[in-house]
Amino acid sequence: MADKTYENVVIEREGEVTFLYLNRPEKRNAMSPGLHYDMQDALLNLEYDAQTKVLVLGGKGEAWCAGQDIKTYFREQGNDPVARRKTNNTSHNWRHELLTHFSKPTIAMVQGYCFGGAFTQLSSCDFAIAADEAIFGLSEVNWGILPGGIVSWNLTDMLLPRHAMYYAATGEPFTGKRAVEIGLVNESVPRAELKAKTMELAGKLLKLNPSVVRYTKEAIRAVRHMGHEEARDYLAVKQDAMHKADKEIGEKVGMKECLDAKSYRPGLGPYKRPT
Ligand code: COA
Repeated sequence: MADKTYENVVIEREGEVTFLYLNRPEKRNAMSPGLHYDMQDALLNLEYDAQTKVLVLGGKGEAWCAGQDIKTYFREQGNDPVARRKTNNTSHNWRHELLTHFSKPTIAMVQGYCFGGAFTQLSSCDFAIAADEAIFGLSEVNWGILPGGIVSWNLTDMLLPRHAMYYAATGEPFTGKRAVEIGLVNESVPRAELKAKTMELAGKLLKLNPSVVRYTKEAIRAVRHMGHEEARDYLAVKQDAMHKADKEIGEKVGMKECLDAKSYRPGLGPYKRPT
């Protein structure tokens, strides 16, 4: 079945990898109210799309995302608190709730400008790969607002405190290479190699047991904000839940292949998945 079409976003596919692009290139993919509603709908549909095994979040044109749309999100809704609240909730919902809790691995593929509010969806993706040439920036300080929504929280979640403070308080832009150094993205490569590098990571993820990848990513995110006693209890229960959800019964298959068949070494790569 053909993918649903949207005014502000576009879906493309390469096998089991689905690319969801912000598609307002003429506005540098600034996030208008319409874009927020489109993204929410697209992510809800893709969550339950059987073909999608890895989701890549991209941007069409020169920008990955130039942040909230200053005109349509801020100025035009300034005197309409109801519209503003609805858009604000939708904006938060897809950029944080839906992406953070997406049941399949997510990769931010950042080819160009990434400013302000875009840091939320960047942080919500499980992985991020940038072009060396991409430009990141907390530009809010340059035009008189805080890194709001939850951008300030995203910064302190992702970066060491000194880096979070420096880039938020100065607004100084930085490249994809610097984004790797400060822990904001996993890797940066020349722009011409960005898609291939993204597909390489997607390929690695596709070889793994999807239930285990899902529960692992959920656990890694959840324990970060817990005390160790709470984390220990949570992880024990999470492990039990994962065993129930894992249709491949990965642990048993893995042990059998390792200890009995001696056909693989778990330290060096995944077990052979049943077809
Ligand atoms: N909100 C609204 N419109 C935006 C926008 C934003 N965040 N970012 C870019 N645009 C619009 C511009 O107003 C312009 O529209 P126009 O053609 O109708 O005049 C169009 O996108 C192209 O922008 P332009 O500045 O000409 O492109 P550029 O390639 O020279 O520069 C940026 C790109 C991203 C560096 C620059 O547009 C910019 O600084 N944008 C603001 C980024 C920002 O501060 N975001 C944080 C918001 S929370």
